[in-house]
Amino acid sequence: MAVARRSVALLGTTGSIGEQTLDVMRLEPERFELVAIAGGERLERLAEIAKEFGVTRVGVRTDAHRARLAGLVDARVEIVVGDAGLEALAGSADVVVNAVLGFAGLPVTLGALRAGKRLALANKESLVAAAPLVEAVRSTPGAELWPVDSEHCAIHQCLGGAAATPGHPDVRRLLITGSGGPFRDRDRSTLARVTRDEALAHPTWRMGEKITVDSSTLMNKGLEVLEASALFGVEAERIEVVINPQSVVHSMVEYVDGSVLAQLSRPDMRLAIAYCLGAPERLDHAFGAIDFAAGLTLTFEAPDRAAFPALDLAYDAARRGGVAPAWLNAANEVAVEAFLAGRLAWVDIVRVVAAAMERCPGGPLTTLEELLGHDAAARATATASLPG
Ligand SMILES: NC(=O)c1ccc[n+]([C@@H]2O[C@H](COP(=O)([O-])OP(=O)(O)OC[C@H]3O[C@@H](n4cnc5c(N)ncnc54)[C@H](OP(=O)(O)O)[C@@H]3O)[C@@H](O)[C@H]2O)c1
Repeated sequence: MAVARRSVALLGTTGSIGEQTLDVMRLEPERFELVAIAGGERLERLAEIAKEFGVTRVGVRTDAHRARLAGLVDARVEIVVGDAGLEALAGSADVVVNAVLGFAGLPVTLGALRAGKRLALANKESLVAAAPLVEAVRSTPGAELWPVDSEHCAIHQCLGGAAATPGHPDVRRLLITGSGGPFRDRDRSTLARVTRDEALAHPTWRMGEKITVDSSTLMNKGLEVLEASALFGVEAERIEVVINPQSVVHSMVEYVDGSVLAQLSRPDMRLAIAYCLGAPERLDHAFGAIDFAAGLTLTFEAPDRAAFPALDLAYDAARRGGVAPAWLNAANEVAVEAFLAGRLAWVDIVRVVAAAMERCPGGPLTTLEELLGHDAAARATATASLPG
């Protein structure tokens, strides 16, 4: 049976998730048409992608980027700029993949849902920071929120795709798995000497730099607890983090009768991307398929919360609610950027976030203006505590 071709806006096209989404789309040209792309600094790559896929709408950050890109693409290509440009592109396709990095992805999340589109969400930071605002636009007619993040995609599948059922009273716990990152086995007394290269050497996944550093501090798991709570309407007390060093079990749902459903595959983000693009159909590519005959050992353990205090900071932000997750996210973005720039030691990333959280005033989050104000205040607070 012929399937109707879906138009896709892939924003954050030049990054790790963006390139893997292009891989999936190359395999399914009859099913998907790329109509809009956007990126940050890699303008040459953006121009190459526009040419390969015949894309005529491209988003860039600033007028200076627009001027540079205009010299690299066909004159027919429309170039839009900034947050307004991202939001316009997010309203222009059947499926919108938000693969932008960090809080900068917020216009894509809100724009896609407000326009009643299917949002395939990799950008966890926007949902963590803006959960109440996202919730308010999720009920727009036609709007769908599909999680690309592998753990949330796994939970979505274990819940039978019933992500929108609020509360899930038949669920005892959501179990978010994680590899434990590069420092799971590391002598704790040497954590003060962690280098940039060591933090970027993830044992099981190849990802962009920011999320790889978040994986090394376990802040990524903390953000994922907040993300799961917002996505599935399950309070953080019913969400647990479990280490599965093989990264084969991508997360689990424990029901009240003790039954546990898990989703397994070799680590390959294209599986989650294809799930979100193709649903309700499953695409026939077997990304991450497991050869059980070759043998498979699975182990599980609790995270070391003393060595990786980011997890407790995230649970605390979940308990406080309102603006607290936005502060956690913003302070973390500042600290990770400083670490990647060589201005902050690895052990100080979470200390900077903890110090910012002590200054977080708390309170509800009801408007975008409030969110932007709190994001800016948290960034200023974290920046002020960076070493001179
Ligand atoms: N990578 C993974 O396996 C993975 C897994 C789960 C979730 N995620 C989430 O997916 C998101 C993307 O992660 P990633 O690893 O793909 O990051 P990445 O490799 O660093 O790519 C980030 C993308 O965002 C673009 N970008 C940055 N700022 C932008 C802006 N202001 N406007 C438009 N585009 C902008 C970048 O453009 P330039 O490169 O051109 O500067 C790049 O295309 C993150 O939220 C991450 O947490 C990633």
